[in-house]
Amino acid sequence: MSGDRNQLRPEDLIGAINAAYGNFDREIERLPDTSESLEAAEKHLRELQDLRIKYLGKKSELATQKKLIRSIDPTRRGEAGSNIQKFEQTITQRIVDKEQALKHFIENARVERESIDVTLPGRRPRPGHLHPITLMRQRIEDIFVSLGYAVEDDREIETDFYNFDALNIPEGHPARDPQDTFYTTDGFALRSQTSTVQIHAMQRRGAPVRMIAPGRVFRRDTPDPTHNPMFYQVEGLCVDRGITMAHLKGTLAEFVQRLFGLETKTRFRPSYFPFTEPSAEVDYSCFSCGGPGCRICKWSGWIELGGSGMVHPNVLRAANVDTEEFTGFAFGLGIDRTCARIYQLDDIRLLFENDVRFLEQFR
Ligand code: DAH
Repeated sequence: MSGDRNQLRPEDLIGAINAAYGNFDREIERLPDTSESLEAAEKHLRELQDLRIKYLGKKSELATQKKLIRSIDPTRRGEAGSNIQKFEQTITQRIVDKEQALKHFIENARVERESIDVTLPGRRPRPGHLHPITLMRQRIEDIFVSLGYAVEDDREIETDFYNFDALNIPEGHPARDPQDTFYTTDGFALRSQTSTVQIHAMQRRGAPVRMIAPGRVFRRDTPDPTHNPMFYQVEGLCVDRGITMAHLKGTLAEFVQRLFGLETKTRFRPSYFPFTEPSAEVDYSCFSCGGPGCRICKWSGWIELGGSGMVHPNVLRAANVDTEEFTGFAFGLGIDRTCARIYQLDDIRLLFENDVRFLEQFR
């Protein structure tokens, strides 16, 4: 072992390494095997990667000293090599052990976080349900279908012919005023009443015909507790040989009895509509007080059902029905208005705002 004084010796390399790795123990022990949280453990794992680079990376003292092995006297190179290798193995093992401990903890923490706590109360699904107007419409349809009526559906955008002319509403009638009816820019009217379907139904089916037509209608009303620019009506039409006012009265009397109970009475008041002659307004006895008067019937004992009458010959003619052979009656009832009465809503707009807090009461 004589030789060049400048020749490096294994102990020089190990000495340099020992000096550079004096803090390794402290630094690695500062990183715990477990943590108080997933995030803390992930941070410790990143710090461990930094330690690996610092103590085992390309610029580490180990790497530097390994390169110097070449400069050692060949007879002692093996000694230097195995010493450095042993040291490197120890450091690597310490880092790998710590890494495994931290990864194990992180894995467990993730599973725990993502697992379902079966003891927690579940989130209930909120099933949908039918709108109160739909429910009301279905009750009305069921009654008329059982009386032999067909249910008709038709367009909401109409020509003046169906909305007015065919219904015997003369030129200049206030209902034609754009103040009252919505018009499209190309001159069509949003139907202001379901009576339009009378014409379509007679044109389609001819006579005799028995049908109801529930649907939306539109009027330029300022919204308030009893008005909405869009609302629901159900139209009724019965055309046959020998139809009289008695059939109209009997039909509507039967209808309100089925809807509100057998004790319900009807009342017909003379009225005027262009499409019927004679015309009548129909009331039914209050389903709540039965007559003496209460808050619901506004102390009158009666509640308005809608308009009705014997179909005007001009209307039958407009739909090519032979007025010598056929007569008919017709009626138009407010679906949402009836709905509001039954549920004692003090603002009809509640039915159109689609506020779930209101609607879910009708489940
Ligand atoms: N169309 C009328 C309205 O909207 C209601 C009506 C009255 C319909 C009498 C009819 C009827 O069929 O015969 O106010």
